[in-house]
Amino acid sequence: MPFPLHRPRRLRRHELLRRMVRETSLSIDDFIYPLFVCPGERVRREIPSMPGCYQMSVDEIVRECHDVAELGIPAVILFGIPEKKDDVGSEAYAEQGIVQRAIRAIKKERLDLLVITDVCLCEYTSHGHCGIVVQGDVANDPTVELLAKEALSHAQAGADMVAPSDMMDGRVVAIRRALDENGFSHIPILSYAAKFCSSFYGPFREAAESAPQFGDRRSYQMDPPNAREALKEVALDLEEGADIVMVKPALAYLDIIRRVRDRFDVPVAAYNVSGEYAMVKAAARNGWLDERRVVLELLTSIKRAGADMILTYHAKDAARWLR
Ligand code: PBG
Repeated sequence: MPFPLHRPRRLRRHELLRRMVRETSLSIDDFIYPLFVCPGERVRREIPSMPGCYQMSVDEIVRECHDVAELGIPAVILFGIPEKKDDVGSEAYAEQGIVQRAIRAIKKERLDLLVITDVCLCEYTSHGHCGIVVQGDVANDPTVELLAKEALSHAQAGADMVAPSDMMDGRVVAIRRALDENGFSHIPILSYAAKFCSSFYGPFREAAESAPQFGDRRSYQMDPPNAREALKEVALDLEEGADIVMVKPALAYLDIIRRVRDRFDVPVAAYNVSGEYAMVKAAARNGWLDERRVVLELLTSIKRAGADMILTYHAKDAARWLR
């Protein structure tokens, strides 16, 4: 007879006791903060659907990185909004590209901060697709070559890690090879391994000015109902040499995070994406939710699902709250 012998409430009576039996902890060490770099000087333009997030010019990004490092957040991930776009995304792998310049400027400051770069073409192509388009379709193998060039140019500019987000087949091994052949065998790859074709990317596409001009991303990003296929994508990226694998989005895909965590013994990252951020911000602004408590609860749920690190626009706020 369990009751009255067993009374689980005994361990909930005091905050110290609750701390002692807490199974999941959230820490500043878990966060990666996304930043959007744009052309110009002294530019700091708030993204309407992502209050508190900005498109920033290189000088402002450097200032921002000082704050991020000061808060103890270990890493940022950079997204670029180039001066001009074309159909092959030339600015993505240009030596003087916007992200390449930002990396050099940040690294010059010698901050206690890792610089990760998003490797994709969608912000740099005139049509907004994540690769080059041939006869109305995103052509896999030619795109992979350009992604390898892009990742290499990031490493040459000083990036600490590269993160391919395009979902082309075979890009991880192509990037690994390009890095290794050019003296960057020490640079890890964080692959967006299980990236779903999600409607939660809407605000990001406004922030990065990267919405596809025709069609959608369904022929390369994953179909949301598929979980076994996500495990296959992760397995392939690991075989190709990925060091860390990511599940994206996070909140609508906590089951995927858990399954990846259970199956593979490598670090798992989760991307708490723009739409997930926008929903919380909108509700909080209306006074409908307690922002601080909701954010910490959501981030904790991503950790509890099994993520080791979280890419999140809430990182700076959460870091302050966790201090
Ligand atoms: C680029 C990329 C996207 C995101 C990260 N990298 C957008 C997309 O695939 O359309 C989304 C991030 C977010 O919504 O916060 N391919």
